Amino acid sequence: MTTATSTFASIADQLSDKLSNKTARIGIIGLGYVGLPLAVEFANAGFSVTGIDLIQSKVERINAGDSYIQDVRSADIARLVQAGKLRATTDFSVVAELDTINICVPTPLRKTKDPDMSFIVSACQEIAKFAHPGMLAILESTTYPGTTDELVLPMLSSTGMQVGRDFFLCFSPERVDPGNPKFQTRNIPKVVGGTTPACTQLGAHFYAQALETVVPVSSTQVSEMVKLLENTFRLINIGLVNELAMMCERMSINIWEVIDAAATKPFGFMPFYPGPGLGGHCIPIDPFYLSWKSKQAGIEARFIELAGYINCQMPHFVVEKVQNALNDFGKAIKGSHVHILGVAYKRDIDDVRESPALDIIHLLQRRGAKVTFSDPYVPSIRMDNGVMLGVDALETSSQADATVIVTDHGATDYAPIVANSRLIVDTRNALRAFRSANIIRL
Ligand SMILES: NC(=O)c1ccc[n+]([C@@H]2O[C@H](COP(=O)([O-])OP(=O)(O)OC[C@H]3O[C@@H](n4cnc5c(N)ncnc54)[C@H](O)[C@@H]3O)[C@@H](O)[C@H]2O)c1
Repeated sequence: MTTATSTFASIADQLSDKLSNKTARIGIIGLGYVGLPLAVEFANAGFSVTGIDLIQSKVERINAGDSYIQDVRSADIARLVQAGKLRATTDFSVVAELDTINICVPTPLRKTKDPDMSFIVSACQEIAKFAHPGMLAILESTTYPGTTDELVLPMLSSTGMQVGRDFFLCFSPERVDPGNPKFQTRNIPKVVGGTTPACTQLGAHFYAQALETVVPVSSTQVSEMVKLLENTFRLINIGLVNELAMMCERMSINIWEVIDAAATKPFGFMPFYPGPGLGGHCIPIDPFYLSWKSKQAGIEARFIELAGYINCQMPHFVVEKVQNALNDFGKAIKGSHVHILGVAYKRDIDDVRESPALDIIHLLQRRGAKVTFSDPYVPSIRMDNGVMLGVDALETSSQADATVIVTDHGATDYAPIVANSRLIVDTRNALRAFRSANIIRL
């Protein structure tokens, strides 16, 4: 056996043993919606976990046992911090002591719909400074296929270490669904693909220590593409059903009834629902990484562009509907008071990133409406023209000329709102059980 092979075997085996006996020191870079729940899962599994974030206030809150993510309970953080299983820092030099590093930093799109890799690059620059033999690095940020091997690998290899022998590199897409009570980090199957077979094996072994199901795939590119397929699948199906909703409107057909009846087919159909537009950090953004990359490969991602276009029309469609409904009730949109019920991008969460409610508010204001909002999870929103504070839902909807249900939070009591509102535009079919002349459905 050559020295190189035996070194490789020993480094990989050592890390594998540390993972099996829970002595591996785990690092999570980026303590947001993805990174913090992951840190908690590994700390719960008995590992010593260090979270690294640039934002001092987040680090302080974690070390004080105070959660800022809705799906993570403060009591759990406090218990883990007290037990010495979880700590947070802004200091990247701890990487020198860590055996594994998961990168969970943001990957936004630039205004031009090009991927913004600057967060990944700056995190990897810091990791490279403190990289060491025996380290397993896993990128979890959603990105274009090729990022791990084309962007991250050269940065970590610049240390002189060889991937698959001295250090190990994987991509594993994050599938977290904020606010989902049934599926959370622990029981969502985890796909992982490595740069070499040894990387994949270690990556799979790593996740198996804390998560229920691990799905190894043959490469980082397959793993990156899995996430984009999943999100593109949703983007396109939502685009299709949004287009059908616009067609049904012209033909006076109830799209919700159509979908419910189609969903009785026991095979070959999966229901998707129309809505006021896409929101969040994933579905409106991720497929455009794929379209950007495929353009470079000489293939236009036509389905993605078309679905993106249709979904972007939905806030306009909703505002048209509000205007038409007001006109039918003898009111002009200019000067009317429109109340928005729910501004989070989806039900039962507090996140307004890319929320269609923000577009709808902006479009209504541009048409001269006076707009208010209420949301049990969101006390205020930042608009271009300043901060808007939420108001009382029932009181304000009974004063408004029109109320628009943009987010159908589960706790909303609709009966008094329906009884007291002049006009309600329901973009989520939240009022499916109500029959009233003042309800206009999408
Ligand atoms: N939120 C979701 O539902 C979701 C689901 C699946 C995938 N993702 C993907 O996961 C990634 C992270 O998303 P998120 O929602 O957790 O983002 P987030 O904004 O909630 O959290 C990211 C964290 O990274 C920190 N950060 C930024 N640059 C850093 C750096 N160089 N070093 C250390 N910390 C840094 C930020 O301060 C922030 O706390 C993104 O690529 C996103 O597309 C998100």
